[in-house]
Amino acid sequence: MRVLLSADELSAGIDRLAAAVRADGTGPLTVIGVLTGSLMVVADLIRRLDGPVRVSMVWASSYRGTDTTPGRLDLNLDLLPDLAGQDVLVVDDIFDTGRTLEALVAELGRRGAARVRSLVLLRKLGRSEVAIEPDFVGFDIPDVFVVGYGLDFDGAWRHLSHVAALESSDIAAARHAPPEPPVDPPAGPRG
Ligand code: IMP
Ligand code: MG
Repeated sequence: MRVLLSADELSAGIDRLAAAVRADGTGPLTVIGVLTGSLMVVADLIRRLDGPVRVSMVWASSYRGTDTTPGRLDLNLDLLPDLAGQDVLVVDDIFDTGRTLEALVAELGRRGAARVRSLVLLRKLGRSEVAIEPDFVGFDIPDVFVVGYGLDFDGAWRHLSHVAALESSDIAAARHAPPEPPVDPPAGPRG
């Protein structure tokens, strides 16, 4: 794995994103994160937003491993509060084909939000298949498969505090690795 964005670079990126969001409107904001990949961005971003913020999550999946072609898009919006008249900021980890964000922005508008803006931590260059662009982009990256800071490959590596590009050897290792043994608790006084 090759580190693409260090924890410090990500932190500076979230600083910039939070400043840009607030410069574009300081009223009450409803932040809607897209599970599961946006969990780190949402947690770090909302702590940098001054002023009234509500937070909610939706779930989206487009079924893929490192496959470049996304499959059917599944959305679950059951957790959404009433959005009538709300200033909404949809937050996702990465804008790849843009299909997830396009569908979400349209649906949130249908639910009566007064304004819907979108923010992504990463945008892959040369991949978009849609007419919309995110309103706020943390980092433009090349067309490589990335993990860490919320992003996964088959459920793994979301917990990394940096973003790394997966190499084919990592993918082969993940496919063939036996399950990891449980970690023993550290030795020490008991009771
Ligand atoms: P889109 O609908 O093609 O823009 O895909 C967006 C979703 O695909 C993201 O929310 C991610 O869940 C997933 N995705 C796209 N590229 C990557 C990647 O490089 N690593 C991990 N997940 C990715
Ligand atoms: Mg996602």
